[in-house]
Amino acid sequence: MRLLFLGDVVGRAGRDAITERLPRLIVDCGFDFVVVNGENASHGRGLTEPHYNELRAAGADAVTLGDHAWDQRDTVTYIAREPHLLRPINFPPGAPGRGANLIEGRNGHRVLVINAQGRVFMDPVDDPFRAVEAAIAACPLGEQADAIIVDFHTEATSEIQAMGFFLDGRASLVVGTHTHIPTADARILKSGTALMSDGGMCGDFNSIIGVDAEEPLNRFLTGIANGRFTPAEGEATLCGVAIETDEKTGLTRKVTPVRIGGTLSQSLPFV
Ligand SMILES: [Fe+2]
Ligand SMILES: [Fe+2]
Repeated sequence: MRLLFLGDVVGRAGRDAITERLPRLIVDCGFDFVVVNGENASHGRGLTEPHYNELRAAGADAVTLGDHAWDQRDTVTYIAREPHLLRPINFPPGAPGRGANLIEGRNGHRVLVINAQGRVFMDPVDDPFRAVEAAIAACPLGEQADAIIVDFHTEATSEIQAMGFFLDGRASLVVGTHTHIPTADARILKSGTALMSDGGMCGDFNSIIGVDAEEPLNRFLTGIANGRFTPAEGEATLCGVAIETDEKTGLTRKVTPVRIGGTLSQSLPFV
């Protein structure tokens, strides 16, 4: 199987890049399944239902969220009827929506997608390791699930790598999101799980993590919030990671970082 994961979509620039490039990319690379993190797709804050539908229409089989999950008020209601939309699994009990789901891809493969949020430099949430482990125990790789993708949304690369080693041999891919900056460490661990500390963002990299540089720079210089954060609107780079898995075991044979378009250095899947 070929699977694509794309990091945090930021604002209109990120959505446009998804709409314009993803359908073609799926055909050209033969992707069987696509996961997109959409937590910043609506003006950098959360994901409205129309924008969720845009990501789905462009080819996202599953859309994940993170600490911005509830920034748009309508998400707490429409998430309940959208089994392809996931929020972190370790949010407090009773949170709307779900944190994991077994989703059928375009070619009939069943992919367990899990979204979890970390606890280092993040708002308090329940233990992500136990929550993810329980979801995988209920739907193991190579049995119910043909592939398992874990989007671990957190700040610290050490915490994401710990999740990778924790799940080595039990998931196809563990990828970080949230920092918006792609790391250069995509690899396959000893027992066949692909790990990348952060998949990066789908947004305009001529910015500070997707935001027009002026306001965040001023805040660092003066300590004073003078205005709002505005998503940068130049051409976005599609950014993430692609894997190819073994049909039988669901473990990963090949991993490639993906960076297409925009200002970031380019890296094409499987080239
Ligand atoms: Fe984000
Ligand atoms: Fe985030």
